[in-house]
Amino acid sequence: MLKKHFSAKGFYISILFAAMLFLVLQIYALHRSRMEYGRLLTSVIVQMHNGDMPDDVLGIGTLKDGHVQAQWGILPRIDAGDVKDRIVSDGAGTVAVFAGHAIYFANDGQFSKINESYRFQVFLSILFCLVVMWFSLLFYFFVYRSVRKLEGWVKGYSGKKQRKKKMSGRQIPIHGFTQIISGIEKIYSDLINTEKAVERKTKLEALGVLFAKVLHDIKNGLASIKIYQYLLREAKDESKRKELIRKMDDGMSDVTVMIQDLLDFVRGSKSTLKEIVRVKDLYNGLKTEYQAKANMEGIKFDISMDDAIAEKCIHVELVRVITAVKHLIQNAFEEVKAAGLPNPEVSILLKAESGNLVLEIADNGRGIPDELVDRIFTPFVSEGKETGNGIGAAVSKEYIEAQNGHVDFETSKAGTVFRVTIPFSVSQ
Ligand SMILES: Nc1ncnc2c1ncn2[C@@H]1O[C@H](COP(=O)(O)OP(=O)(O)OP(=O)(O)O)[C@@H](O)[C@H]1O
Ligand SMILES: [Mg+2]
Repeated sequence: MLKKHFSAKGFYISILFAAMLFLVLQIYALHRSRMEYGRLLTSVIVQMHNGDMPDDVLGIGTLKDGHVQAQWGILPRIDAGDVKDRIVSDGAGTVAVFAGHAIYFANDGQFSKINESYRFQVFLSILFCLVVMWFSLLFYFFVYRSVRKLEGWVKGYSGKKQRKKKMSGRQIPIHGFTQIISGIEKIYSDLINTEKAVERKTKLEALGVLFAKVLHDIKNGLASIKIYQYLLREAKDESKRKELIRKMDDGMSDVTVMIQDLLDFVRGSKSTLKEIVRVKDLYNGLKTEYQAKANMEGIKFDISMDDAIAEKCIHVELVRVITAVKHLIQNAFEEVKAAGLPNPEVSILLKAESGNLVLEIADNGRGIPDELVDRIFTPFVSEGKETGNGIGAAVSKEYIEAQNGHVDFETSKAGTVFRVTIPFSVSQ
């Protein structure tokens, strides 16, 4: 409430108003004392005139430095020498001037006294008013404007801009001392809002990247389903058909999980559904899918597994692991096709190394371009592919690292080997 009614501008106007009121009151008081003075003079003149008031009084003056100085009424400049025969006394008192230059000397020292106090009061009142006005102006220019500048500075725009805004007629709410705090509060809340906006923007950007990744995964997932569909059409054996239908179901579930992942991210929650996966099952799944794909594309495909680890398990988010591995296999297929080799070849090996499952994906392509070697896991880094988004390698790394594993590679002009390392499940 106080903040609302008290402002620097209002304070300045109040001081100015008070000073002006004081001036008016002073003028009134002086007028009263002047009237009193006049009355006293009049009574003296009447006294000196033997009880009659002459009707040609022009004004009252005092003798000073040989001249009559006007104190009341309009007096012509009178040289004391010219009227000395009419001065009754020694010229140190008050005179009354008449039309006919008749001058009466007032013996009564009261005149001088009133006159002096009158002058002094006028001087004091004017001085006081000037001082008050001066200080209020000072307050306005140095304090109020400084506060405005400070507010402007804190808000981040210069005085020049403020002036510009004012000239353009835009109102800038400036509220002085008491509202500096609320100004700072406002700036703070602006900052919070900005921070929230940045957070939202970061989230949206992350969402954009995730969208790209998930769409990529979904595209791969659907490609797998398509392969199963093709195999299903060709399959004669009932048990084979059943297996393919099951794989298609799994593929659909994978896609659903990916979409769910995306929705979870948007909602701010993240589900981690880990499962125990046998190495053998992983091997079989990859074999079925990529053998068929390789056959379709005329690429030699080989997948092998160290039998000692066939029954071993990994405790992972299977969809992510499959997705990561598929991206790397997909890259290998794309590379050998693009290289236009007479004997394109992709091979996968599953083996154990220091308590970890190592899955090697090798191709006999041209190798990773030198300029990409250090950036291959950076999202959106792609080269030599018309439809490449640069997502696959980055996603693979991210997904495998989320399972406490890691991805690395070796590359040369004779081909590339990607290694996916995932710890075996500790429960075995
Ligand atoms: N096995 C590989 N042999 C040679 N180059 C590779 C191999 N794997 C990846 N690359 C190179 O690394 C780049 C980045 O691969 P990444 O999988 O991240 O993206 P992409 O395959 O181009 O696009 P996306 O995977 O999004 O479809 C590829 O464009 C390619 O140039
Ligand atoms: Mg790729």
